Amino acid sequence: MIDFRSDTVTKPTQAMRDAMATAEVGDDVYREDPTVVRLEELGAKMLGKEAGLFVCSGTMGNQVAIMTHTQRGDELITEAESHIFYYEVGDIAMLSGVQARQVPGKRGVMDPDDVKHAIRDSDNIHFPRTSLIAIENTHNRGGGKVWPIEYVREIAAAARERGIAVHMDGARIFNASIASGITPDVWASYADSVMFCLSKGLCAPVGSLLVGSRDYIERARKNRKRLGGGLRQVGILAAAGIVALETMVDRLAEDHANAKLLACELAGIGYGTDPSEAETNMAMVNVSASGKDAPSFVGALKEKGVLCNAVTPTTVRLVTHHDVTTDQCRETVEVFGSLLHA
Ligand SMILES: Cc1ncc(COP(=O)(O)O)c(C=O)c1O
Repeated sequence: MIDFRSDTVTKPTQAMRDAMATAEVGDDVYREDPTVVRLEELGAKMLGKEAGLFVCSGTMGNQVAIMTHTQRGDELITEAESHIFYYEVGDIAMLSGVQARQVPGKRGVMDPDDVKHAIRDSDNIHFPRTSLIAIENTHNRGGGKVWPIEYVREIAAAARERGIAVHMDGARIFNASIASGITPDVWASYADSVMFCLSKGLCAPVGSLLVGSRDYIERARKNRKRLGGGLRQVGILAAAGIVALETMVDRLAEDHANAKLLACELAGIGYGTDPSEAETNMAMVNVSASGKDAPSFVGALKEKGVLCNAVTPTTVRLVTHHDVTTDQCRETVEVFGSLLHA
């Protein structure tokens, strides 16, 4: 099977497996795991922050971040199709007791003026307090869209002026960085906290990091414990994360080239996709030219050995990653061709 469902399907590399087998470990709840400490320091340094926290998943990282920035009854401004709102099981309400002010964006990017208008006047007795703005970069449902940095800068400035924190869901911040040429620490400089994933395009088997100021991460550490995320000899996993950060970032450019190739070739044979929108490791493809809706098309593709997900009734998403080759992308274009009006 050629698997384009997500970059989360990537398997750990041999170098990761070797590092895991020999990792020096200790009890991380006692802060005695030297490999976790190394990973947290490395991640924080790459993002230009004081401290880092290893968490089980991107969802846990986002939710610990939100819990640490907010109080119950607060409002969080987030894009209407953001992962935090769309895919995290209602956790912001359930775990932190905050409500989402959803700002509709274009491919996940919120207009800074819309964000400014969404900030509540805390003097009004009827209103919740806006305590946090979340930015997802790259944006998953936006097809791997990279934010224009000037939008991030403008939102961050407005937030700082009003004493509101900014969290960046940077699950794929290194994809944003490779595509834009803007280093991760520059992206992160506009946010008080950033979560990024080791287990997506970077191929580690498990884990994400939350980074921020030392004081913020200390408070986040307690919230991670509250959620059952205090792990013990977890250097076994952190070892793979170190290999991910040290060796797997630059190669993301190959995934971006493959997504571009898919988008160009599929547009060339009549599918609805705009190659200029394949900026990182995703191609969003309207499959109406096949005469099928997206879920049926996904079924037909599967029979021919290609896996992907339907993300709207007419659109499928192809995510490129370490474990699909350029040749497999070309093969996939042929399979799509065979399904035109089939
Ligand atoms: C933008 C974004 N944030 C957060 C997550 C959550 O990561 P995890 O699946 O590790 O919980 C994902 C997962 O795909 C994502 O795409």
